[in-house]
Amino acid sequence: MNSQLFSGRTFLITGIADKNSLAMFVAKKIRENGGEVVCTGLGVSPFHKNLSEKAAAFLNKNHNDFVEAVQSELGDTLTAVLDVSIDESIEAFAALMKEKNIQLSGFLHAIAMDKTIRQKEVKPLIEVTKSEFCDTMDVSAYSLIRLTHYMLKYDILQPDSSICSLSYIAAAKVTFHPYRNISIAKAALERITIELADELGRLNRTRVNAIRFSPYMGSKAGNATLTENVVDTSDEISPLGNATPDDLANEVVHLFRPGGRITGEIRHVDGGYNIMG
Ligand SMILES: NC(=O)c1ccc[n+]([C@@H]2O[C@H](COP(=O)([O-])OP(=O)(O)OC[C@H]3O[C@@H](n4cnc5c(N)ncnc54)[C@H](O)[C@@H]3O)[C@@H](O)[C@H]2O)c1
Repeated sequence: MNSQLFSGRTFLITGIADKNSLAMFVAKKIRENGGEVVCTGLGVSPFHKNLSEKAAAFLNKNHNDFVEAVQSELGDTLTAVLDVSIDESIEAFAALMKEKNIQLSGFLHAIAMDKTIRQKEVKPLIEVTKSEFCDTMDVSAYSLIRLTHYMLKYDILQPDSSICSLSYIAAAKVTFHPYRNISIAKAALERITIELADELGRLNRTRVNAIRFSPYMGSKAGNATLTENVVDTSDEISPLGNATPDDLANEVVHLFRPGGRITGEIRHVDGGYNIMG
């Protein structure tokens, strides 16, 4: 059902790689509720230096897929390149929003990267290098601080905004399909959520929450890391079965709702997986 809940409000949606990205479901749900979205995708920025041909091709393909998906699923929508591993890219994005006089009522952080998971194989933590650890932490966790920092610096995040990021249960528990390196980054992301909730709530009543979601193979990241067996087992363990991307999007809408009083929460949209022993 369409509503005007977000009438006159614009949200930033990060992390769209294609039409199956979790972030895309959220963007659509915001639109259904009368809101506007600005979408960012990974791509080549003026700040990338010494890119190999392979890396440039990867980024260009990513950006083309992103723009195509946004156009086909959302229609006329402002898109921008954002690589959160490069500070200048985040700042340039915030400056662009300022230049366009866009005021945000919040944003979705749906960004993660871990090169220690390859062909669905997880590298043991004991073998993880310093750069693999730091890169994963940088992109998947620290980026929440940096994005928020530049939005406040450029005054594009309105008071009473709502920020939401995406996590999963492995941030707190070793599950039947243990991730290693990325779990630590998710734990950091959740802690950053809580610390920012305190800082920003006091600063201008901005709310900051995270959602732990069920395993989902539809996205590029999910497909690269999960197996059908993992998704099926999680579905069986969860009392309500795995949650769907639509369930997730509904919860983000709930957290983005104007005037809410929920902050610093790590919520579960996982069909009850988290209560099981
Ligand atoms: N798929 C799942 O099972 C699942 C479950 C729980 C939580 N999550 C989380 O949901 C979020 C979205 O994942 P998804 O499943 O939709 O996969 P996805 O592949 O569609 O999204 C991941 C996004 O991260 C972006 N990204 C990676 N490095 C980046 C960088 N340096 N700068 C900017 N963007 C960068 C990618 O371009 C991509 O858009 C992630 O945080 C993921 O950990 C996923």
